[in-house]
Amino acid sequence: MAGDRAAGSSEAMSKPPPLSSVCAHRRAQALQKQPRTVPQRPAPAEFTLTRHDVRRRFIPRSAPGVTESQAAGSPARAKVGRVSDLLAVWLPWNDPDGFLGGVPDGFRVETYDGHGQLPGSIEYVRFYVPQYFGGSNVNEVIRDMTALEVVQTQTAGYEHVLPYLRDGVTLCNARGVHDASTAELAVALILASYREIPQAVRDADREVWPPLTGVQDSLADKTVLIVGYGSIGEALERRLSGFECDVLRVARRARPGVAPIDDLPALLPRADVVVVLVPATDQTRGLVDAEFLGRMKDGALLVNVSRGVVVDTGALVAELGTGRLRAGLDVTDPEPLPAGHPLWSAPNVLITPHRGGATTAFAPRVAALVRAQLERFASGEPLVNVVAGPAR
Ligand SMILES: NC(=O)c1ccc[n+]([C@@H]2O[C@H](COP(=O)([O-])OP(=O)(O)OC[C@H]3O[C@@H](n4cnc5c(N)ncnc54)[C@H](OP(=O)(O)O)[C@@H]3O)[C@@H](O)[C@H]2O)c1
Repeated sequence: MAGDRAAGSSEAMSKPPPLSSVCAHRRAQALQKQPRTVPQRPAPAEFTLTRHDVRRRFIPRSAPGVTESQAAGSPARAKVGRVSDLLAVWLPWNDPDGFLGGVPDGFRVETYDGHGQLPGSIEYVRFYVPQYFGGSNVNEVIRDMTALEVVQTQTAGYEHVLPYLRDGVTLCNARGVHDASTAELAVALILASYREIPQAVRDADREVWPPLTGVQDSLADKTVLIVGYGSIGEALERRLSGFECDVLRVARRARPGVAPIDDLPALLPRADVVVVLVPATDQTRGLVDAEFLGRMKDGALLVNVSRGVVVDTGALVAELGTGRLRAGLDVTDPEPLPAGHPLWSAPNVLITPHRGGATTAFAPRVAALVRAQLERFASGEPLVNVVAGPAR
């Protein structure tokens, strides 16, 4: 959502060496199968590797009958098989070595960032990392990846990828990658709302210094309820620990210090701030409805940094309209929020345009995750963050 979102890549830039490919017959078939609108890069008629390529990029377990010594038979280059024999990986970065700090041994990499021609190896790709800033086309191509084994998202949310998965494809999310950024934004929304920063900015734009007529809310001494106490929820609590507030925690299942979701109705009236951090699922869609909002205490602040659909927008607009609650929203339903939508003009609401994960903290963390996953995949170790499909 946002996979988390849509728009152009800010990632790096040089083209990787082309992943060579298929015989002319296979290529013709591949081209016939090409998606509707996106052209495919032509693939060479034969696949050849240098000795260096074989050592660094070839996956022995997936290339029966092709050995390094066979490949080394020719002094310069040796034919070693078709792309279908390789464990091909599509990554969204133009300089995958630079971005990842080195692609692990044993992979043949092509770049696809959602723009331009599709690489010629779409039928052979086994491991795919969709572009973070890509539109829906970065997920639609999954349907044409007939040899695909793993999709590794760069987002913690993954509901947007599920419709494109075939049986047998493993989906891994980026749990942990966005903890720092998203927890930070939750704190920022709380503090900005409590300390009335939006009004200060509006006043400053008009060069107005208003008289002091009352006190603002402080986070100190307040109670913050985290609904969806997972990876980001824990990161949020670590950040809140310096603010002299109390924290209540709710998750699906009870565990020490964390209440089960069934306890939510009893906990909501105790909270000054409710931060929503559940994933978008059939169970959580509309979780924050009129009843949920009605249980929040007068003057309480709702912060949503998870997914827009978790909140019933109509119910929130109605409740904000009474002036009883406040809201800080990084995500909305719909998204993007169109001009003229009543949420824009609702009182006491602060909206950021789904920026939770998009910070400087993102790239190094996602690079570490993807690199480690590729290493696991190559060595046969279990992948982490499997959220759908078979464990691998
Ligand atoms: N704003 C942004 O840009 C941004 C950035 C990153 C992530 N996100 C969103 O944040 C969400 C949370 O990320 P995360 O990494 O913290 O996920 P996570 O580690 O999987 O934690 C999710 C938490 O939600 C709880 N939960 C799941 N279903 C629930 C239900 N039906 N009722 C109550 N609690 C439920 C889980 O309970 P259990 O622990 O009992 O399973 C878990 O505690 C993501 O799914 C994504 O949509 C947004």
